[in-house]
Amino acid sequence: MIYLAANWKMHGSHQRVASYSYRLSALMSAAPATISTIFCPPAIYLETARRALPLNSRVALGGQNCAKDDEGAFTGGISAPMLRDAGASYVILGHSERRQYMYETDSQVELKAEAAHRNGLTPIICVGETEAEYSEGKTRDVLNCQLKNLGPAIEKGALVAYEPVWAIGTGKTPTLDEIGAAHSHIKSVLGSTVPVLYGGSVKPANIGEILNIPQVHGALIGGASLEIESMQAMVATALKKGMK
Ligand code: PGA
Repeated sequence: MIYLAANWKMHGSHQRVASYSYRLSALMSAAPATISTIFCPPAIYLETARRALPLNSRVALGGQNCAKDDEGAFTGGISAPMLRDAGASYVILGHSERRQYMYETDSQVELKAEAAHRNGLTPIICVGETEAEYSEGKTRDVLNCQLKNLGPAIEKGALVAYEPVWAIGTGKTPTLDEIGAAHSHIKSVLGSTVPVLYGGSVKPANIGEILNIPQVHGALIGGASLEIESMQAMVATALKKGMK
């Protein structure tokens, strides 16, 4: 299975989300069942996306974060049942932007993954090292810490996204060998069957070679997923790769 997840971060509008959802769904209508696309707009637009998708659409929807609690006095919070109610079946957790700017910790990510599973959502758990950690050769150590307690979440069904922090939104990417090695390491810790996506400056020009890496089961795409033409090009490349 190849997963292509579009992480829109804090971008979009009703109009853009609706037209993108419709066009992506049309593109996916003839796609083989071995390719899965997951559209993750800001939570406020999930309902817009759901309405724009035809019945039985091959495009799944995902949130970009959820609270660890199902409800309560948490101003501004969005819970997993709310995401589910709005049409999501996935949720991105532990994205490095949240780890960096909102001080999200590994244990919070684990609790959020529990909340996701409790409410029928599949977590997409992001891990990856910073530039300083990469330069010091600490990628494996960092991954070991982030993965240490993820066993239960993986057993219940989760995707992992390997996203080196220094590759996100920068146009820089690790070498193909480095991506393969990091993915192999993640699988050696979590089990060989866990689907591991790569994220960080994926674009139409490099997605083909990244999807060719045997340990890569898809991509989590930020900036290059925002325009439907660019997403179309990446879906077309994934379609050519066919079965995996
Ligand atoms: P990018 O972001 O593709 O813009 O580098 C990826 C991500 O943050 O998920």
